[in-house]
Amino acid sequence: MGLLSAEENAAYWNARHQREGDLRSGGDMSFDEPTNRMFYILRLSLLLDIVGHQSDPVAPLFLLDAGCGKGWFSRELARFGHQVDGIDASESALAYCRERGGGARYFQSSLSGWRSPWLYDVVLSVDVLFHILDDDEWERSVRNLASLVRLRGRLALADWGEDGDRTYGNYQVVRGRNRYVPLARECGLRFDGWRPYAFRGNPNGFYVFTRTG
Ligand SMILES: C[S@@+](CC[C@H](N)C(=O)[O-])C[C@H]1O[C@@H](n2cnc3c(N)ncnc32)[C@H](O)[C@@H]1O
Repeated sequence: MGLLSAEENAAYWNARHQREGDLRSGGDMSFDEPTNRMFYILRLSLLLDIVGHQSDPVAPLFLLDAGCGKGWFSRELARFGHQVDGIDASESALAYCRERGGGARYFQSSLSGWRSPWLYDVVLSVDVLFHILDDDEWERSVRNLASLVRLRGRLALADWGEDGDRTYGNYQVVRGRNRYVPLARECGLRFDGWRPYAFRGNPNGFYVFTRTG
């Protein structure tokens, strides 16, 4: 089966965000909306461990939610007192985010194209990178997200927990640990470990890194 072109991929996400409910649109399509709610809450708690438990109104943490979709994680993290930038390529997802409000700021951008006047304490990307089908664009995206993490800040990139690469259907290209870890190391990030979602049969999890240099 051939992979979607960049245009087909963009159209797929706009249509899916228009058609599906709050969570299923960016979540796991094999789960219904209530099950996705459990799935989102469980991952928020994993993200809390990665981001840390502190919250300071005078010096909020700066977070980037890269590929924020309809913005559920951005809104929840902003409710903890953090300053959150959410970026996504999909116009319809961003229109929804802006209408919902909730404290985060939203921008239309690809992962590889986002430029920021400041570095982030934590850059996270939930279930986006395996939807970037072009390999060069995937590498540009990882490099760009890594470059946005401050010294001792963290990078959490979700992908399937596979050893090598694998194509799944026409809209997912899974990259293995053997791709993420050396690339992040080249960008000055230490690999801290793999945090599987461990929710029903979902195979994904976070590759967690810390900038050390
Ligand atoms: C599975 S959804 C995840 C959304 C959100 N992170 C969540 O967990 O609810 C994937 C999202 O990635 C976005 N996306 C795909 N490729 C992208 C790219 N190259 N740059 C920015 N966003 C992208 C899509 O528009 C879609 O909103």
